Amino acid sequence: MSPDSPIIVLDSGLGGLTVVRALRNVLPGEDILYFGDTARLPYGSKTGATVTGFVQQIIAYLRPYDAKHVVIACNTATALSLPAVRTTFPGLSISGVIEPGAKAATAAAGAKQVPTIAVLATEATIRSKAYERAIHRRRLHARMLLRPAPLLVPIIEEGRDATDPLVRLALQQYLGPLLTHHMDVLVLGCTHYPVYKELICKIVGNAVRVIDSAEQCADDVARRLKIRKLLNDAGPADGTAGQDSPGREQPPRSGQLRCFVTDDPARFQRLAPRFLGVAIDKPAWVAPDELYGHAAPDGGGRLSVPA
Ligand code: DGL
Repeated sequence: MSPDSPIIVLDSGLGGLTVVRALRNVLPGEDILYFGDTARLPYGSKTGATVTGFVQQIIAYLRPYDAKHVVIACNTATALSLPAVRTTFPGLSISGVIEPGAKAATAAAGAKQVPTIAVLATEATIRSKAYERAIHRRRLHARMLLRPAPLLVPIIEEGRDATDPLVRLALQQYLGPLLTHHMDVLVLGCTHYPVYKELICKIVGNAVRVIDSAEQCADDVARRLKIRKLLNDAGPADGTAGQDSPGREQPPRSGQLRCFVTDDPARFQRLAPRFLGVAIDKPAWVAPDELYGHAAPDGGGRLSVPA
């Protein structure tokens, strides 16, 4: 592993591309391998055992790329699997999106004695209480409002944009009850939701600070790589970093993004710009069967069928 090694970013579908976008802003020189488990989405309605198995399989599948860091860019997968996955791959540096999101939320709550912090997320993330724990560790007296929003991910993955009446209706349904409780901060606890951030901000009004964890997550990854002296800030992409090239300015190195999906690469390619802001090359298709063959070292990647 070296500064040239890639960073793995994984998610159940397209949503984790919001984290890739933030990462590319902070760390433009890094090569990124993105894995969207589109065949097995949604993760948000599944059990911890199932999601943990999926994440272990994906990491095991990408092991040959010798990544220097893995970002679980999915709140659900972070909430349900991060500690288990760290145990499965002890030599690998792995981070998630919930701690950075919770940190940003408590900072946004400011000096208020008992701030009200709301979290909008998938059913599994809410059920896990991961945000509650992460926020209460920092602000014991924060009042928490937790709201599952199961319809949002399918609506977003369907490609509907913020002008769609169904989107507005769904957001009003989910945000209405939170608004009656006068929240100070709203955490978008799902990597898919930032695509509607503008509309969400409009619905909740200026008095509510809206947090999406993508930027905080990217800063957290940059900090981890810096500490480990693994930042890829080597300079030009042509490998001439450090060489003398009198009178010639080399363009800054720009990292490559390579995507893998488990279903419908063409659809992923079509919808990706909404999350990433730019077009992508067609992703490689990985058959889910191939993933099942990549059980984690301790066998944890195999799915067990609950009795
Ligand atoms: N990206 C996932 C998250 O951040 C939600 C999508 C899903 O349910 O699979 O929670």
